[in-house]
Formats: sequence, C-alpha cells, structure tokens
Amino acid sequence: MGVEMKARSRLAQGIPASGIKKMRELVRTLEGVIHLEVGEPDFPTPAAVIESAFDAARHGATRYTPTNGTPELRAAIAARASRRRGRAVSPDEIVVTSSGTQGLLVALFTLLDEGDEILLPDPGWPNYASIVFATRATPVLYTQRADTGFVPDLAELRRLVTPRTKAILINNPSNPLSSVFPRQLVEGVVRFAEEHDLYIVSDEIYEDFTFDAPHIPAALFDTDGRVVTLSGFSKTYAMTGWRLGYLVASPSLAAELTKVEGPLLSCPSAVSQSAGLAALALPEAEVDAMRDSYRRRRDLVVAHLQPAGLLPSVPRGAFYAFVDLSSVGMDTNAVALRLLEEERVATTPGESFGQGGRGFVRLSFATEESELVEGLRRIVRFAARNATEAREPVAASRT
Ligand SMILES: Cc1ncc(COP(=O)(O)O)c(C=O)c1O
Repeated sequence: MGVEMKARSRLAQGIPASGIKKMRELVRTLEGVIHLEVGEPDFPTPAAVIESAFDAARHGATRYTPTNGTPELRAAIAARASRRRGRAVSPDEIVVTSSGTQGLLVALFTLLDEGDEILLPDPGWPNYASIVFATRATPVLYTQRADTGFVPDLAELRRLVTPRTKAILINNPSNPLSSVFPRQLVEGVVRFAEEHDLYIVSDEIYEDFTFDAPHIPAALFDTDGRVVTLSGFSKTYAMTGWRLGYLVASPSLAAELTKVEGPLLSCPSAVSQSAGLAALALPEAEVDAMRDSYRRRRDLVVAHLQPAGLLPSVPRGAFYAFVDLSSVGMDTNAVALRLLEEERVATTPGESFGQGGRGFVRLSFATEESELVEGLRRIVRFAARNATEAREPVAASRT
C-alpha cells in the first residue's frame, strides 16, 4: 500500500480506452436494450467447421505449427486468393496470423519505424491508430466524408503525402462506414502509392460482404509487390472467437512478415487453423446465404433511415450503417448515451472512429430482423423528438 511504482509504458498509457468498450459497460447495467453496437456476425460458426475442429484436436492438432501457418491452410488460402485475383498466388505469399488484428500488428511492425508517417482513414477502425501508436510512427489522417460516399479522396491524399510517408492503410469495405471503393478508386490508390513509393496495407476483412458491386482487391493493380492484404475468418465464416486471419504479400515481404510474427506469436492456434481449412472447403452457398441475409437487413436499414434523412450514404458492404444524428448533437458520445437512456438502443458513438465521426453513430445490422426494425424505429423517433433547429452541417464541420 502506498508504494510509488515506476510508470507503466508509454504504450500502456497512450492507448485510449475503447469507446465501444465504455458503451458496453453501461449497456450491461440496463434492461430491455436493443443491441446495435456489436461489430460481429450474428450467425453461429458453421457446424462443419466446429466438427472438423473437434476432429483435428483428437487427431493431433495440438502442437506448434510453422510460424506462417500450416502448409495445407496456406495452400487453401492461396487457392482462394488466386481465384479472387485471377492470377496464381503461391503459398509463399501467405502468412497466417492469429486474427486480422494480430495480422495488422505484424504488418505495421514490419513496415513502420519511428518518424515514418502512415496515412490512416478518419473515420476508421480505432485499432489502426492504436497499433500505429505502438510502432511510434506518425498517423496522418485522411477523411472519408459523407458527401463523397465515405471513401478516400485522391486529391486529399496527394496533399497529405510527404517525403516521410511510408504507407497508406485502406479499409474496403469499411468499418464503420460500410462504404465500398469503386474499381477506379482502388486503382487510383495503388497508382498514387506507386507515384510516392508507399506500401499499401489493404484491410479487406469484409471482402465477402458487398451488396451492390463486387469487391475489388487492391492487389489486382499491384505491379511491384507494395500491397499487403489483410483478411481473415472472423467475418466471412462467423468465426470471431477462433482468432484466425492472414496476410497476403509478395514472397520477400511475406518472409519478413513471418520473421516479425515469430517473437510476437510463435504460431497461430493449430486447432483454429484446422477449422479454417474446413471453412475454406465449405460450399460457397454458405457465405452467399449470409451475404443475402445482411443485404436484406441493409435494405431494412435504408427503408427506415433514409426517409428520415438520417442516412447520408447507403451501406454497400460489411454490416454497419453510419447514422447522421447531427440534428441532435455533434458530440455523439453524449448523443449515443441519450439514445441508450431514452430509447434503450445501444450504438457506437461516431467519435470512437475519429473526429470525422462527429455527428454520427454506428449501428451494426448483424442483428435479428425484428430487433433491428424495432431499433430503427426507436432511432427515428429519437431523432424526430430531439432534433434541434440549429443543425450544424456535418460535411462542413469535418473539413
Ligand atoms: C476493419 C476491421 N479490420 C480488422 C478487424 C479484425 O478482425 P479479427 O481480429 O477478428 O480478425 C476488424 C474486426 O472488427 C475490423 O472491423
């Protein structure tokens, strides 16, 4: 008692408490809450995957594997990436990781040094900034504004790039914006990176969930191995708890990623890798059915929120809607709290994803349909009741 100890690390002190976590803590104390804050699929992991994991554990998948993953899983991921990219991707280009999150950590620790700059999306998934903080590189934020469909603006990227810029991180489809980059923009970002000799870390974890147009991998336009693609099993196969993801990069970069992964992880879980192999062998119809279900629920979100003027941009992928509640207030930490207290609807404040999220809350439509519809009705009612006259224009406030 009372003993003064030395300060914990700069990292431990500098990583902000997650806004999502704060909301979750409050939610636990209330009853009758409609949960639209959770960012994970509401489907169970497919039964065949679970069975194969039992089987694998009984038959010896209980030991270390190679750091970059088992040869079987890397081959299966490479085959999948080959189909997506229309060229042969070799298993040497695959590094299996213990989740997308951990893959991101490996990628950014492999690419960044103190003093380097990396372009990050705002709004964007909060872990990007936290991991960049750990690398001691400098995040430089680019906006993804409602009036341009929540995607990056190449002219702005050109203004932000400096000789110290080492990489750009893109997230397509986006969490929290659910935007999907048009093909031309994906190509434009790759050309921009070539012009300025930047690496691209392309977070494509939601690649299987686009509703109106196909997902375009950044690697499609990569001519010289500057793209590192992040994907995984959490979203596509409803396997968030299995902690399995992967990176796809040129063989030389993949070797370097593996070197960095060694001391961070040793290797991904053997049982989860066997489960991942079974997931990749599932008929495509399984993932198609999940996509169709998300699309139906996306349509419900649009039908309820668009007429009320709360949805500036239609969600095109992933399973989120970025809802404009600026009529109620720009500080959506406060607005989301009020929404929770007054209407018992849990969402995530837009500010959790950066200053660009002011005036918005994120909802996840990976929620049972009748719950979702009731939640949407309550949000519309809340906005109508609380709208103030002096509405601050969202786009202008974030320039
Ligand atoms: C944009 C984005 N990238 C990466 C991840 C990482 O997912 P996981 O660590 O479960 O593979 C998530 C999870 O929510 C995400 O939203």
